[in-house]
Amino acid sequence: MRAIAPQPLLDLANVSKMFGGVSALSDVSIRIPEGRIVGVIGPNGAGKTTLFNVVTGAFRASSGAVTFADEPITHWPSYRIARAGIARTFQNIRLFASMTVFEHLLVAQPHQGAGIRRFLPARRADPEAWRRAEEALAFFGLAAYRDRIAASLPYGIQRKVEMARALTARPRLLLLDEPVAGMNHDEAAELRTLLRQLQDRGLTILSIEHDMAFVMTLCEMLYVLDFGVLIAEGSPAEIRSNPVVIDAYLGSEA
Ligand SMILES: Nc1ncnc2c1ncn2[C@@H]1O[C@H](COP(=O)(O)OP(=O)(O)OP(=O)(O)O)[C@@H](O)[C@H]1O
Ligand SMILES: [Mg+2]
Repeated sequence: MRAIAPQPLLDLANVSKMFGGVSALSDVSIRIPEGRIVGVIGPNGAGKTTLFNVVTGAFRASSGAVTFADEPITHWPSYRIARAGIARTFQNIRLFASMTVFEHLLVAQPHQGAGIRRFLPARRADPEAWRRAEEALAFFGLAAYRDRIAASLPYGIQRKVEMARALTARPRLLLLDEPVAGMNHDEAAELRTLLRQLQDRGLTILSIEHDMAFVMTLCEMLYVLDFGVLIAEGSPAEIRSNPVVIDAYLGSEA
């Protein structure tokens, strides 16, 4: 008898996304096993962020299917996908202009809409929300910034606030869009350690990243996009020595 491979936590089957005449994703199939840290790399405009937007329901796939935890989420609205256990951060940080770090963590819920301010008083009175916010604050070493306006903090700190906020929603899958952009070397090294700890607790992570030193040391597996097409997949060592990837993206640096 042949062993049956376990279903991946996230499965994209032949996903395409068109914007007018532009093919941002073209017949992309990827499988993310539960408990892994997987990277997505590729040149600017390759379709990496579009991939996240399709997975989270921000954009609807033009064709193909997205399955998460055995549920067909392709046509689900984003709030339902978030509730099912997918959280994300944004390439262009999205924090509220006048909220403190702690307030961001208190209101962090899968669906963030215009009415969020009205939730804040209720969340303040919710001991479970408070406990989760404290936990995320401590985990990311943000205690010193607790009552600071989040958007006024250095870029690297803002990225951590976004990740902490995403985690308070208790996701099974965390999507990170360029998490170390704006971080210095020490901050990136610290983040790598934190993400590994999250993995040890059972979280699955899919990370877009241009910082090759970071992505090659963090991820167990990589997917490479170029002009919306998946051109390679494999271990960091395989990707680093893949002539197609070197030609399209890594260049002579590799
Ligand atoms: N909302 C949109 N409307 C029209 N075109 C879009 C939209 N979002 C993305 N695109 C196009 O889709 C392609 C892929 O863009 P995407 O942002 O996914 O690339 P990326 O790999 O994340 O690039 P970068 O590394 O610069 O962040 C690009 O040609 C982009 O211009
Ligand atoms: Mg992008």
